[in-house]
Amino acid sequence: MNTSNSAHWLATARTVTPGGVNSPVRAFGSVGGQARFIAEAAGSHLVDVDGNTYIDLFCSWGPMLMGHAHPAIVDAVQQAAARGLSYGAPTTGEVELAQEIVGRTSVEEVRLVNSGTEATMSAVRLARGFTGRPLVLKFAGCYHGHVDSLLVDAGSGVASYSLPNSPGVTGAVAADTLVVPYNDITAVEEAFAAHGDKIACIITEAAAGNMGTVAPQDNFNAKLKDIAHRHGALLIIDEVMTGFRTSYSGWYGVDGVAGDLTTFGKVVSGGLPAAAFGGRRDIMSMLSPTGPVYQAGTLSGNPVAVAAGLTSLRLADEAVYTAVNTNADRLHRLVSSALDREGVAHHIQRASNMLSVRFAEGEGHNFADMQAADTWRFPPFFHALLDNGVFVSPSVFETWFVSSALTDEDFAQIERALVPAAKAAAAATPA
Ligand SMILES: Cc1ncc(COP(=O)(O)O)c(C=O)c1O
Repeated sequence: MNTSNSAHWLATARTVTPGGVNSPVRAFGSVGGQARFIAEAAGSHLVDVDGNTYIDLFCSWGPMLMGHAHPAIVDAVQQAAARGLSYGAPTTGEVELAQEIVGRTSVEEVRLVNSGTEATMSAVRLARGFTGRPLVLKFAGCYHGHVDSLLVDAGSGVASYSLPNSPGVTGAVAADTLVVPYNDITAVEEAFAAHGDKIACIITEAAAGNMGTVAPQDNFNAKLKDIAHRHGALLIIDEVMTGFRTSYSGWYGVDGVAGDLTTFGKVVSGGLPAAAFGGRRDIMSMLSPTGPVYQAGTLSGNPVAVAAGLTSLRLADEAVYTAVNTNADRLHRLVSSALDREGVAHHIQRASNMLSVRFAEGEGHNFADMQAADTWRFPPFFHALLDNGVFVSPSVFETWFVSSALTDEDFAQIERALVPAAKAAAAATPA
């Protein structure tokens, strides 16, 4: 596969941007090899600057639920852009998007922001403001964006690059964050027994997708809510990844547990920079201008981003979720049988239609389980897929995302690509 144009652009990018990328995992750091510069995308396909085409199984890290350049979404964006790019004053579209979010989830009020990071940062500030308490409890391997206090033991790119914590996060900030293993209710009980009157909130991914895919076990989210409330703390459910992807109502549609606050991103944006957080009215009313907790944004509720998000959500009906779920099941079966044929020990980790491969027998329930697998099998597996035109997330600690746009021909190509990929995984040796 010729990737000379990508190589040229990456070299050029490195002269003006750290590592040549604007978000670390895009650099292929944990899988090695040549990052691809993408020129365009439509439906289930990405096309790079060398003209190579790939079936997209990471969907811009989640947002592209119905594939790329959906005509109705592109049309809505073009029409919105023609009416002006930003006003800095309220628009009817923002109200409609908020109504759509409220209508599909547990939240009573919503505020729109520009990224998932901003959503979790604002939700944590609001939880601290509401409770008057300093501490946040999070789970090892959960990633909630690059918020200082949430970058402690984070998953995603931080895990891909093996960084326990980021330099630049002060000791004082890190000390306000308690970290316990995911799916470990006893550890949560113990943290509350020791610090309960100081904990403002628990923040958890609705289902974890940044240590690979790890579903919550045994009513984990409901138990978290119960413990938090017994101690006067709040539960923030981070649905940036799961929201409007894992079902019509996100993970709330799967387990029915309403966070006191919930964060949204990715699918809610339709692929443009937008995100949201919301929750109980009594908590949300603490936000400025009705309350004292400050939160603001020049481009928040941007009319073009709102048009993309609103159109996406209105298109994402039950039929779309049925298609996405069917595609995830189909992919799961293909990957599993290809690895079985080569005798590669594995478990396909699932949380609704999110999935990833754990290269070991049995399901992983937390970050330590996911790190303990044969993670070194992933880079050759990834590259064999890529060389055969199938693009999955470039880290063993990231989730694979499917769209409703995948076709039978795509699945035939995926099945063919999995043959050399499974062989490469089988032949891999620890570094
Ligand atoms: C669960 C979760 N929360 C928050 C974020 C941060 O979102 P963003 O990258 O839009 O800042 C992410 C990003 O992947 C995420 O997966």
